[in-house]
Amino acid sequence: MDWTEYFDAQTGRAPRSVLLRTLEMRGDTAPGTALDLGCGEGTETRHLLHAGWRVHAFDADPSSEARVRAGLDPAGAERLTFRAARFEDLTALPAADLVYAGFSLPFCDPNLFPGLWTGVLGALKPGAWFAGELYGPHDDWAGRADMNFHDRGQVGALLAGLDVVDVIEDDRPGQSAFGPRHWHVFHVIARVPA
Ligand SMILES: C[S@@+](CC[C@H](N)C(=O)[O-])C[C@H]1O[C@@H](n2cnc3c(N)ncnc32)[C@H](O)[C@@H]1O
Repeated sequence: MDWTEYFDAQTGRAPRSVLLRTLEMRGDTAPGTALDLGCGEGTETRHLLHAGWRVHAFDADPSSEARVRAGLDPAGAERLTFRAARFEDLTALPAADLVYAGFSLPFCDPNLFPGLWTGVLGALKPGAWFAGELYGPHDDWAGRADMNFHDRGQVGALLAGLDVVDVIEDDRPGQSAFGPRHWHVFHVIARVPA
């Protein structure tokens, strides 16, 4: 997919609420290391950097890095590593206190998603948080061979072993950067038992 139009449309928006709620729930816990998987134009990565996190940002789109780095101060830039890579090609992920994946994991090849998810779970330190989205079978894009979709039961199975804080299901018509569409999205916040 060409993400240029999407990145343009996202530039300047507020950080996504699933991330803000997760940070709020962490309370006063000191910032640590975060992964932003499929970071796009970087709103959430920059928010985390500004809050003092060290961030490993990943995205397959080669234009992402320049957008993510735009406007960072030297201290923030020093705490950022960016890797242009497809989820399908990731091997070990760095250990993290937070893995954030906003509207991105569904774009992994369904045959390789189980390996990616195993990597996500393996990256989470004891007490670490996962926040992000998975897509359900009623989504407009369901059936695309290059994307993965999970129903509520399957989402529950993916989160087995984690303390599930929130799984908010959106199954409704709405808008996207590309026009009207039916969304079937699970907004997930979960935590590894400490
Ligand atoms: C819908 S956008 C979400 C971007 C950002 N997280 C946000 O919430 O705006 C999906 C992102 O995943 C990236 N992406 C798509 N397929 C990917 C893949 N197979 N591996 C890694 N990144 C991928 C795209 O480049 C894009 O930045």
